[in-house]
Amino acid sequence: MSHSSELIASDIEGYLRSHQYKSLLRFITCGSVDDGKSTLIGRMLYESHLVFEDHLAALEADSAKVGTQGADLDFALLLDGLTAEREQGITIDVAYRYFSTERRKFIVADTPGHEQYTRNMVTGASTADVAVILVDARKGVLTQTRRHSYLVSLLGLKRVVVAINKMDLVEFSQSRFEEIEAEYREFAGQIGLDDMTFIPMSALKGDNVTDASTNTPWYSGPTLIEYLETVPVDDERAEQPFRLPVQWVNRPNLDFRGFSGQIVGGTVRPGDRIRVLPAGTTSTIDRIVTMDGDLDEAIAGQSVTLTLADEIDASRGDLICAADSPAEVADQFEGHVIWMHEDAMLPGRPYLMKIGTRTVGVTIANPKYRVDVNTLDHLAANKLELNEIGVCNLSLDRPIPFDAYNDNRDTGGFIIIDKITQNTVGAGLLHFALRRSHNIHWQDVKVDKAARTGLNIHRPGVVWLTGLSGAGKSTIANVVEAKLHSLGVRTYLLDGDNVRHGLNRDLGFTDADRVENIRRIAEVTGLMVDAGLVVLVSFISPFRAERQLARDRVEADEFIEVHVDASVELAESRDPKGLYAKARAGELTNFTGVDSPYEPPESPEVYIDTAALSPEAAAELVIATLRVRGIVS
Ligand code: ADX
Repeated sequence: MSHSSELIASDIEGYLRSHQYKSLLRFITCGSVDDGKSTLIGRMLYESHLVFEDHLAALEADSAKVGTQGADLDFALLLDGLTAEREQGITIDVAYRYFSTERRKFIVADTPGHEQYTRNMVTGASTADVAVILVDARKGVLTQTRRHSYLVSLLGLKRVVVAINKMDLVEFSQSRFEEIEAEYREFAGQIGLDDMTFIPMSALKGDNVTDASTNTPWYSGPTLIEYLETVPVDDERAEQPFRLPVQWVNRPNLDFRGFSGQIVGGTVRPGDRIRVLPAGTTSTIDRIVTMDGDLDEAIAGQSVTLTLADEIDASRGDLICAADSPAEVADQFEGHVIWMHEDAMLPGRPYLMKIGTRTVGVTIANPKYRVDVNTLDHLAANKLELNEIGVCNLSLDRPIPFDAYNDNRDTGGFIIIDKITQNTVGAGLLHFALRRSHNIHWQDVKVDKAARTGLNIHRPGVVWLTGLSGAGKSTIANVVEAKLHSLGVRTYLLDGDNVRHGLNRDLGFTDADRVENIRRIAEVTGLMVDAGLVVLVSFISPFRAERQLARDRVEADEFIEVHVDASVELAESRDPKGLYAKARAGELTNFTGVDSPYEPPESPEVYIDTAALSPEAAAELVIATLRVRGIVS
């Protein structure tokens, strides 16, 4: 089966040519810890003769040292992977391996079985054609098997190999094999998988990996490699409507303007009519330019530069589509969200969404439900924790071109990025656009912000005081308001305790409720600024992300963040409402500074050390800043 065959010796050119034109199959392996994934991948690499002699020698020595396989080679050690994996016996990241046989080239994503690593599984599955799901013949279908199969189905992989491994440990029992097959089929039916191939295997001993095993005379199906070599890789993407997300605009001189990127759907030829979204302008393809010259045709997967017959505008993030079957454009969606971070997804928090080459702002509403991946039940949820999957409405800060994920993985799949840390915290797939945004219009108003401001002797603005409970926010806010009022400034003071008696009486102190608390206050503050007022806002507002949301709601020069700083010890020694005492006694949970976090501002406009400054002096500092900004004179 080796491809390091005679051709290499006799006709190196011929060998390279045949190699170049071999088709490529991408697959992922998934399974629980100890199902034998690493052993399987190691064996596939070994048997395709890509293990070099010196590696083999090292492997033999290693196996003797750390191996768990006695005198046999320990193929798991072939996966250089991570030392951590060797030590803990779990795989902790996606490792892509490349190998080839005479008939095909393969890229395998080795995705971890450990419960914590949905992220890696999603990463690996998003580009794969086939999933190989390992099941330990002794253990049968486990929670992890269900989780992985559900993700595989959710991510649109249509073909699944269920490799029932470690058959040597169940005496190659046909009845055990059939029992597991029946159990898996029942579950798979519920998640919409139908193209399944079951293979009895021993990755360790080599049964039915490359060569048919004499231990399973009752099995007449393909070996794993036979299956992988022959499963059709019909590139469905080439049949889809044409899509090219613009990665960059290539403009070396005034005479040339090309739009570069990778085609993620369909086929394109010079003369084709196209539409650029979201703008909707149309043109005709003039040339398809590549490093190797112009092409008459390009298909999904190729990276090209397109020139157009007309001088139309397109920039990074735009989508060039077939004119007669364009993508949709919308800013409100329903979709699946898969959460991948220890910090939960909080409804209403502003995140970034990256879809194709475009990044936009997004907020995610309360999940409609989350999915219990073991039972497939729909559960109520008001946030999504690490590894949880929910169906949510998503609201973007501007319209984007998209397709349903089921129609195109690239234009319908997205990742969620934390605005502050820039970490990838989630992923998801779009189902459909919500139309309601089209039915709510902006009503024109005759008296606008400028007109209202004209009646005042000052400009509108926000003084946003943040800090621990008992730091002195309300006290300072009151002094500032009294001073402004005496200067003839129209003000309003929004105070956490007061607003929680009315507008926000339905909210408590969980992270999710605090996010919603501040989201509403940011909105009200925006309206009051529009009304021409100087708004004083006194809320703990413990999270940077929501303070940023409030800042973004008004003009840059209108927002003054004031960090009213007191250490927990100092605030606790003041304890004006006796709440710290209650929190310490365990009568009050989620109390900021005690068992709920406070994220101090990184660069507030005004910093007040309340250990050193009187409320009077603090108020003067704030007013001085309002003067410098020209909000009051
Ligand atoms: S915020 O975190 O959502 O911004 P907010 O400023 O509205 O909080 O409300 C804080 C006030 O609620 C505190 O000044 C305190 O009087 C009261 N309070 C009651 N329970 C808590 C709690 N668990 N954590 C913080 N403040 C609480």
